[in-house]
Amino acid sequence: MQLRKVCILGGSGFIGRSICAELARRGVAVRVMVRRRERARHLLVFPQLELVEGSCHFAPDLAGAFNGCDAVINLVGILHPSRDATFERVHAELPALLARVCRERGVPRFLHMSSLGAARDAPSEYLRTKGKGEEEAHAAGAGVAATSFRPSVVFGPGDGLFNRFAGLLRVVPFVVPLARADARLQPVYVADVAAAMCAALDDRKTFGKRYDLGGPEVMTLEGVVRYTAEVLGLRRVVLPLGERIGTLQARVLERLPGKLLTEDNLRSLGVDSVTARNGFQDFGISPARVESIVPGYLGEHGRRGRNQRFRRAARRD
Ligand SMILES: NC(=O)c1ccc[n+]([C@@H]2O[C@H](COP(=O)([O-])OP(=O)(O)OC[C@H]3O[C@@H](n4cnc5c(N)ncnc54)[C@H](OP(=O)(O)O)[C@@H]3O)[C@@H](O)[C@H]2O)c1
Repeated sequence: MQLRKVCILGGSGFIGRSICAELARRGVAVRVMVRRRERARHLLVFPQLELVEGSCHFAPDLAGAFNGCDAVINLVGILHPSRDATFERVHAELPALLARVCRERGVPRFLHMSSLGAARDAPSEYLRTKGKGEEEAHAAGAGVAATSFRPSVVFGPGDGLFNRFAGLLRVVPFVVPLARADARLQPVYVADVAAAMCAALDDRKTFGKRYDLGGPEVMTLEGVVRYTAEVLGLRRVVLPLGERIGTLQARVLERLPGKLLTEDNLRSLGVDSVTARNGFQDFGISPARVESIVPGYLGEHGRRGRNQRFRRAARRD
């Protein structure tokens, strides 16, 4: 299958950037549909990439964006719902609409980003709606070959995992209270996820399949925080919180700006984000280890932070 152009939704986000980079590397033309063009200007560094504005919830906008494309990649997702963007609307109704518009406009290929643990009976709304959305993507029907990807937590420059904990560790002195500290994760490098998805685009063996994607190591959430502190050169004690205090913490944090943790996030963490059947095997990809990538983007801040602390200490002396 010769790819002419790929349309990406959610391309302005963390994973979207890597997928655009990988497609550019492969010489594939890309159209990214965005809500606001100025928020995606950073993507214009890639050759053969165009930005079109529109609403991904509005079929005529989608039909226009899909024009001349032979594949669609859906990366749209949220961690925190709002009045206009509920989990149901973004994670479940949107893939159904995309699948329908692909069918109607004769787009033969649909790649959908789901999540490890996504299932109709999952404990969190995030995972439940992701599960529904995955089913909708695969119900696209004749003429549209769907493939979905179910990564564990994804890391890389600009991620919401190590960077988020790095931000927290810098402002919380001594002791870090942590809910669901024993949650098990299999952090996966964003460039590996992008490589697998882009390889799948024109690979018929992947049509109709769902791929769990995880990195080479399983870490607990506590392990992630400890490792982040180590990379930053910070001494912190992690204090695992029990179920009730953890829920209380989430209730408080979800009301604060930035929503560091919500009750729904906590429920998602109740399911191990670990896979026994790693899809990377099918793509011949050996996923990168955390320690080979994370110091490269956190370490810089760590050094800067250490230097600032050193200068502050020197001024006090
Ligand atoms: N990062 C992870 O650890 C991880 C793990 C498993 C699965 N996933 C899934 O992977 C996908 C991409 O994740 P990410 O980390 O790249 O997220 P991200 O950085 O937050 O990017 C999300 C993208 O979705 C767009 N978007 C969000 N709500 C939208 C709405 N209502 N209408 C239109 N566009 C909307 C955003 O556009 P704007 O720029 O306009 O806001 C952005 O381009 C998501 O489906 C996520 O659930 C992520």
